[in-house]
Amino acid sequence: METKVKKVKLTIDGKEVVVDDGATILEAARQNGIKIPTLCQHDALSNWGGCRMCVVEVDGSPKLVASCVMPVRDGMGVVTSNEYILECRRTMLEFIFAERNHNCMFCPQSGDCELQDLAYELQMDHLTVAFSFNKFPTDVTNEYMAIDHNRCILCGRCVRACKEIVGASVLNFQNRGPKSLIGMDLDETREESSCYGCGICMQVCPTGAMVNRYRGHYAVKGHSKDWQQVESVCSQCGLLCPTINFVKDNNLIKIEGKLTSANGRPDRGQLCYKGRFEALKTKGKRLDSPMVRSGNGTWKTVTWDEIFKLVSGKLNDIKKKEGGQVIFGLTSSALSNEELMLFKDFMTQGCSAGYVDTFDGPHFRTVAGAIKEGKETLREASWKKIPEADMVILLGAAPYQRQPIISSLLRKGIMQNNQKVAVLGETDPIPPYTPYYFPVADGALRLLVQTLKSGMDGDGPKLLEKAWLAADDVKAFQEVVKAFSDSANPLFIVGEKLTGLEDSAILADIVSLANQKGLYPDKSLRLIILKPRGNSAGAWKLGTSSSKKVPGKSKWKAGLVLLGEPDDSYAAALEEFKGADFVAAISPYVPESLADQVDVLIPKPSWLEEEGTFTSVDGLESAYKQKSLQAPVGVMDSWEIFKNLAERIGFRLDYQSWKDLSQKAEREIKKQELLKNSF
Ligand code: FES
Repeated sequence: METKVKKVKLTIDGKEVVVDDGATILEAARQNGIKIPTLCQHDALSNWGGCRMCVVEVDGSPKLVASCVMPVRDGMGVVTSNEYILECRRTMLEFIFAERNHNCMFCPQSGDCELQDLAYELQMDHLTVAFSFNKFPTDVTNEYMAIDHNRCILCGRCVRACKEIVGASVLNFQNRGPKSLIGMDLDETREESSCYGCGICMQVCPTGAMVNRYRGHYAVKGHSKDWQQVESVCSQCGLLCPTINFVKDNNLIKIEGKLTSANGRPDRGQLCYKGRFEALKTKGKRLDSPMVRSGNGTWKTVTWDEIFKLVSGKLNDIKKKEGGQVIFGLTSSALSNEELMLFKDFMTQGCSAGYVDTFDGPHFRTVAGAIKEGKETLREASWKKIPEADMVILLGAAPYQRQPIISSLLRKGIMQNNQKVAVLGETDPIPPYTPYYFPVADGALRLLVQTLKSGMDGDGPKLLEKAWLAADDVKAFQEVVKAFSDSANPLFIVGEKLTGLEDSAILADIVSLANQKGLYPDKSLRLIILKPRGNSAGAWKLGTSSSKKVPGKSKWKAGLVLLGEPDDSYAAALEEFKGADFVAAISPYVPESLADQVDVLIPKPSWLEEEGTFTSVDGLESAYKQKSLQAPVGVMDSWEIFKNLAERIGFRLDYQSWKDLSQKAEREIKKQELLKNSF
């Protein structure tokens, strides 16, 4: 039944307004188009009332009140602006400026600073009070961010964001009075502290106290208003975190998360260190024209026409002489569904290739093996169910490295919801505050899983004995078994350490154990599989990942590899195809590690330069990522590259545009959703 919210009638600046009971004066004003300046307030955070910039007059109150924390009441009369209020706000702003070194001219945040904007808005062009600041330290120990305490206004936004959204509670107020500053843990530097480097503190900081070390001095005097804001998604790990990418003159200036107060995604729109900073890093030498390796190993630039002729000619010749069986295709699964579909169709239908796979194909095969072995259904649970679970068991999973936001959800679960978290298997580092950690090798891990399944009243004690745990660990594991048996809503999270094993047996046991606890109402299993790359789930669903191993002893003649960002796994995977006479790589960057394994390099746009759809880590959702930057002049996008190659080998793609391709990929992904397994 819909609960009716009580309404309250009040007057703001002579205008009668009606708002929900419980709203603050600031919310009531904003809902009615009345602007009140703020500084410490942030829509995604709790209200604190620290800066007093939002003060207003309220009938019957002898003093000005902070509108961001004062709730409305029936019949209230509010004045948000008059000469006295403006004077008070200006004076308080002067004190803030006088307290520390806010010399905008030398601040990297100048032009993109809320404190500076407020000074313009309140026409505070000089100070009538004396400067009183002490010299404060700066902290440049972290690779991504610097802290300059001299520019901090102690608004506490960073402290609240770190605790309320990220669940880290690394930042806090230290010292008292004029010596107050925002510290990390017990007065550590950022690098020494337990900070995860997610940068949310920097995003909510209204001044230049927390700044991005990859980009600085990009805005001057309000020029941030000229920046283009591109709504996008991060495709680094499969959680599809929404982002706003700030771009100026085809330069990426910064990436911000879409922070929310409580509703929406359980992560409340935070980004991890990867989502915020990875794209700002230099990835290696950019490839901007096609290149061919000559006999003496040197690389020579060629035209697009020459490269298409060379690659299609080689593929055609080999196919005609020896059949497609000797051709292979390998792709990164960090690419969009469209690229993965295009690649698969080109290789399988156009080249009749003998083998097509993704670099993370072995993980897919282990999972597929586990289902076959256990004959169980595997429809994975949504990662959004993590906060609801009363117990989470991680097996061979290291979310801090791959999906750091999951690590944040677990931290909050442990600290704020008394969630029980146990980590089984070798993984490092474990989610912080995890009370149960058993870093055992695979043999013992299987015994622990079987102990969980049998319980301590069955064969559990015997199985546990075989696992050779230390006495304290045996006791701790018995607690885990008890917690698991009492748990009404457990969830398993499996990671790469397990899916990377050739043997599917442990995973099959886990699938069976998860089934033992019953499915979710949506028929999904209490299991999430953390996949290795940003769009592994899309690649698995589209069938670009192969269900078969690389055929042994094959005599490979030619191959085509489609790459994303530089990745250490490329070279080892290509080793399996050693001996191929001709290998062409399509890549945004010069793949240094493959220099002597490929013969031809074809440039393509980087992920920020190409649009596309990505599928979430659990395979349940897809999101469209529009491009934020233009590729370097002369670089063709993947669609153009494959269209040209297809035409020249005499193969007609069954879609005529990127849009058609996108629709086909979407249909294929949906088709898989109708099957009982989630990939
Ligand atoms: Fe209200 Fe700071 S914005 S007190």
